Amino acid sequence: MTLSFRGVFAAGRVFAAIDACALLAALVLSAAYEPSTGAVFAQSPSLRVCGDPDNLPYSNEQLEGFENRIAGVVAAELGASPVYAWWPHQRGLVRNTIDAGTCDVIFGVPEGLDFVLWTEPYYRSSYVMAYRGDRGYDFRSLDAPELRELRIGVHVNTPPEESLARRGLLDNVSTYSLFFDPRGDRDRPRKLLDDLVAGTVDVAVAWGPLAGYAATTSDAPLEIVPLEDEPGVPLSFDISMGVAKGNDELKDRLETAIDRRRTEILAILEEYGVPLVSAAGGSGAASQDEEPAPEEAAQPEPPSAAAAAAAEEAAPAPAPGPRKLNPFTGNADMAAEGRTLYFQVGCQGCHGGGGGGGMATSVIDDAWTFGSDDDVLFRLVKGEIPEQTMPTVYSVLEDEEVWKILAFIRSVYAGDPGRIDW
Ligand code: HEC
Repeated sequence: MTLSFRGVFAAGRVFAAIDACALLAALVLSAAYEPSTGAVFAQSPSLRVCGDPDNLPYSNEQLEGFENRIAGVVAAELGASPVYAWWPHQRGLVRNTIDAGTCDVIFGVPEGLDFVLWTEPYYRSSYVMAYRGDRGYDFRSLDAPELRELRIGVHVNTPPEESLARRGLLDNVSTYSLFFDPRGDRDRPRKLLDDLVAGTVDVAVAWGPLAGYAATTSDAPLEIVPLEDEPGVPLSFDISMGVAKGNDELKDRLETAIDRRRTEILAILEEYGVPLVSAAGGSGAASQDEEPAPEEAAQPEPPSAAAAAAAEEAAPAPAPGPRKLNPFTGNADMAAEGRTLYFQVGCQGCHGGGGGGGMATSVIDDAWTFGSDDDVLFRLVKGEIPEQTMPTVYSVLEDEEVWKILAFIRSVYAGDPGRIDW
């Protein structure tokens, strides 16, 4: 059963004697009442949403975000009301919500977040460049020569950071954090856009929904220019709803609801200024195993118990030999930590959530660009191979972090076992 019927027995009514069919009919009936009016039972089947309590424009506890609004529309289509379990959409999200059984659906899941089963996308957006419209600029892309003279802000570890690096613009760049502790005093992701409005940066390169929301809520005239995907750097992404793996029934129902309520959903997104892009020319619709994810930086995940168990099973026996430098190879705990890092720092954006490739090569087959041993891969991640086209931004990772990530990559190796040299 995918929708929770908990609470149906409230209001002192006893349905125990009613057979299942009649109960269902009663549920559908009660769902027809507007819950906020408190009419009759004020109880209907619930769609249990794993909500972010404090992360506008997506969601908050006051239900002011566009994901809250979309959840309301989708739940209504299912004849249910949204009931929220609040957990920040940051570290530990899936483990503490869906895996813990407190809720059934996460809204705003980028494809690639493979701890969950995701629905067909309900929108697709892109990274954008934003600037004040009263500055006399007219930029169409990051290639505008004027950018060399301007201050540019970007969230650290997001794909466009690489786009800026490729254009040699990093000297002009100030980085901002996507992570924040709602109880702490660290800057919100929104700070980048606030600085743009204040003139601290001239151009902000940000995820579309965040920039679009700033444009609709700020007094300053903000121009928003969607960025196009670049070879090896996906900049537009499908966004779906995520449910527990195996919960195909709920997935199907959500997809039907998405199809039926698409116009309303799009209207909500437009109201919040979310720049919508079509999949044409982008990375396109993809299966759960291949699609890169954009917002891992916004929603990094530790592995679920199931994922850790799977990693353990898949871990090859450590092979002896002089090239075996990684202290963590074959260590399931370390591979699990490595997997978390792999998502946190954005490797999956190019190599896919399962490592099978996407915008860049597979890291789990036995075809290797520069070699497969620990030394080569370590230097590649550290950005020390002169011919590499893979970004060199990961030089900032600690050695130990690199080894953990590589331990994860080793644990998902799917090539010829005879070619293992690590
Ligand atoms: C912007 C895209 C991009 C990102 C992000 C990225 N890589 Fe790569 N990676 C590449 C490309 C392109 C190659 C192919 C080798 C080359 O030409 O540099 C590659 C190659 C590799 C390889 C060797 C695969 C082979 O077949 O040769 C490994 C391992 C690897 N990357 C790991 C990582 C890890 C770990 C991260 C995150 C810390 C990461 N990559 C992030 C683009 C990326």
